[in-house]
Amino acid sequence: MSTPNGRFISFEGIDGSGKSTQAKHLAASLKAEGYEVILTREPGGSPGAEEIRALVLQGETDRWSAETEILLFTAARRDHMERTILPALAAGKIVICDRFADSTRMYQGLSRGDLRALVDQLHSLMIGREPDLTLLFDMDPDISHTRAVERDSIDSRFEDFGAGLQKAMRTGFLDLAASAPERFRIIDAARDIDAIAVDTLSTIKAHLG
Ligand code: ADP
Ligand code: TYD
Repeated sequence: MSTPNGRFISFEGIDGSGKSTQAKHLAASLKAEGYEVILTREPGGSPGAEEIRALVLQGETDRWSAETEILLFTAARRDHMERTILPALAAGKIVICDRFADSTRMYQGLSRGDLRALVDQLHSLMIGREPDLTLLFDMDPDISHTRAVERDSIDSRFEDFGAGLQKAMRTGFLDLAASAPERFRIIDAARDIDAIAVDTLSTIKAHLG
């Protein structure tokens, strides 16, 4: 997959950390300033990947083996890249993606044994690209989990992880950020929505130059 001209930005963090709320704010603010912006999300973001979304996020927790689940998330991502992300980047747009491969590294890589190496292998084989910038929305999982559960969505297959796993994922995301400091910016997500939105916009503007 070649390097296009636009800017590819992903939002990451545990469930309920405010990614979707902030992604919408940021897209609106950038559009108001005249930027061409695509707001998209994973799993999903293209018609085929949205179909896979229903397969992976609905139903019983043991619906898929851990390995099949990684294949499904990667298949959805490949379709999303081909049909939505790469064409938008090639047209010079800013792509804001609510979750990307770091979510697979954390959720599928940590939740059912240590499958991180398999996630990374499939990623390099089938996706082969990281975002230009990743904002990590970091906060205490006890608070974000309450927010996520209150939303009462049908896409809830991953939302009843225990507190221990939520904490491990928070730590895992922070470790990922530390291992790729040029790509990651950490946002303190335990503040009010407006304060986080100001911080998010200024972080992106600094990146855009
Ligand atoms: P995510 O996409 O990370 O799962 P959402 O943006 O969907 O998180 O937010 C989860 C819930 O918390 C939503 O009901 C949202 O309205 C609420 N919320 C988002 N940001 C904040 C915040 N900074 N303070 C309090 N509640 C928030
Ligand atoms: P999302 O709709 O972003 O949920 P939330 O708003 O609660 O963050 O994502 C749905 C779920 O999918 C979320 O619990 C994380 C999970 N997920 C994975 O397990 N692996 C992945 O690769 C992705 C992109 C998401």
